[in-house]
Amino acid sequence: MALSATIKTPLVSFTQPLGLYIDGQWVRGQSGQTFETINPATEEVVAAVHEATAEDIDLAVNAARRAFRNGWSTTAPTERGKLLLKLAELVESHIEVLSAIESLDNGKPLKLARSDVLSAASCLRYYGGWADKVHGQTIDTDPSFLNYTRHEPIGVCGQIIPWNFPFLMWAWKIGPALATGNTVVLKTAEQTPLSGLYGALLCHEAGVPPGVVNVVVSGFGAVAGAAIAAHMDVDKIAFTGSTLVGRRILEASAKSNLKKVTLELGGKSPNIVFDDADVERAVDWVNNGIYFNHGQCCCAGSRIYVQEGIYDAFIKAFKKRAAANVVGDPFDENTFQGPQISQLQFDRIMGYIKSGREQGATVEVGGQRHGEEGSGFFIQPTIFSNVTPGMKIMQEEIFGPVCAVQRFSTEEEVVRMGNDSIYGLAAGIHTTNVSRAIRVANALHAGTVWINNYNSLSPQVPFGGFKQSGIGRELGEYALSNYTQVKAVRMLLD
Ligand code: NAI
Ligand code: MG
Repeated sequence: MALSATIKTPLVSFTQPLGLYIDGQWVRGQSGQTFETINPATEEVVAAVHEATAEDIDLAVNAARRAFRNGWSTTAPTERGKLLLKLAELVESHIEVLSAIESLDNGKPLKLARSDVLSAASCLRYYGGWADKVHGQTIDTDPSFLNYTRHEPIGVCGQIIPWNFPFLMWAWKIGPALATGNTVVLKTAEQTPLSGLYGALLCHEAGVPPGVVNVVVSGFGAVAGAAIAAHMDVDKIAFTGSTLVGRRILEASAKSNLKKVTLELGGKSPNIVFDDADVERAVDWVNNGIYFNHGQCCCAGSRIYVQEGIYDAFIKAFKKRAAANVVGDPFDENTFQGPQISQLQFDRIMGYIKSGREQGATVEVGGQRHGEEGSGFFIQPTIFSNVTPGMKIMQEEIFGPVCAVQRFSTEEEVVRMGNDSIYGLAAGIHTTNVSRAIRVANALHAGTVWINNYNSLSPQVPFGGFKQSGIGRELGEYALSNYTQVKAVRMLLD
């Protein structure tokens, strides 16, 4: 099968690489197998890509190790920074192609796809800026010693990314790894292999040396992903995906070489609206908090707590707002919500809607498939009320356009309700009372707290989870410490 194909979209036509990108070359997988990726808005096949198995992972890891040893780890930091800046520029200048790929392969509305691509470029640029600003310390002990620390790269980083923000997650992983002198074996998600491969093409064009970035895809996380996690020569793994697989990765690390592990996992984030909030503004943020990216967000604000004084007004306005979200063709500029990623995710989400009904919750809006069966995995924006904390829809991550609204009376009560989860990724607070906002932000167990907004992310601000939402932080200066190890040097003076 060919290593590239021409793909036509309503926006642009382009040449899509389909092979594995290993050691600076486009190759077929050792097994000779390929698999298809589909467009979730139409259920039609977009392309077939070459599949990586354990043998390919081995080749990619060896290439990454050679590139690490043969110069990348000792390349002048300024040069690494320059490459990342160049890559950021290339990403920006290919915005139409990359956005079209995301809309086609993931079902993301174009508007959202474009914003993902720009955010990816910002992330690469931000870490390009860090490349020559990663310093150790000199530490005074007694005068007969010179002590200093060096922040050295860890080595070969295995990076496993999901399908919900395919290209953005690619950038979140590649940026800090390359800035700090590591090399990368990155596995895209089997549902969305195309943008990561196109990104590899841009790495090549930017002049990233062979072996520094290897992009492999796989039909099965359990094959290529597991091979990365278990590999004896991978020094670190950065994973974004389900909590279930996160556990497997930790286990694989424990059973192999104790590779360093950072995990960005699930969530069941509370979004809290107090009586004194501006209802219209709060409704907008709550709507965005759950329906952005079709609810396929680890930080989705899926548990909505509304104080009793404005509960009725809020529900009325929120129902109207949610029902007005435009669901449909990702290539239509007016679309806000596209399809879910796959039949499997569609079925999982519909299963949760069924369970909510069976456990006695009330469907205020939605609750059904949008459109015809066989023409895309669309689900209506759905709001449940009359929920209790024990219900499955209040405990488990749904990862779709489904939320539940619950009434509360006091600040103390809502902090308790908000923290009643195994997860701790994010939380939202809507209030005009500054002291309350800060008090509640301090009391919530979450890696990110948004006050009077939701889902805002910037490359400068760290992101990651408390509790079972993860280990480590991405973005910001904090991410650098997950890609470096500290060496202490102690010299005895004569
Ligand atoms: P997943 O965790 O199976 O997939 C994420 C990545 O892990 C993919 O690249 C996949 O190929 C890889 N993977 C799968 N099994 C693996 C293994 N044994 N070893 C190494 N890598 C492996 O998630 P899935 O099944 O696509 O979605 C299930 C649920 O996970 C969603 O409903 C959602 O709740 C959650 N999820 C959370 C994400 C987040 O952003 N934190 C992203 C995607 C899913
Ligand atoms: Mg796809």
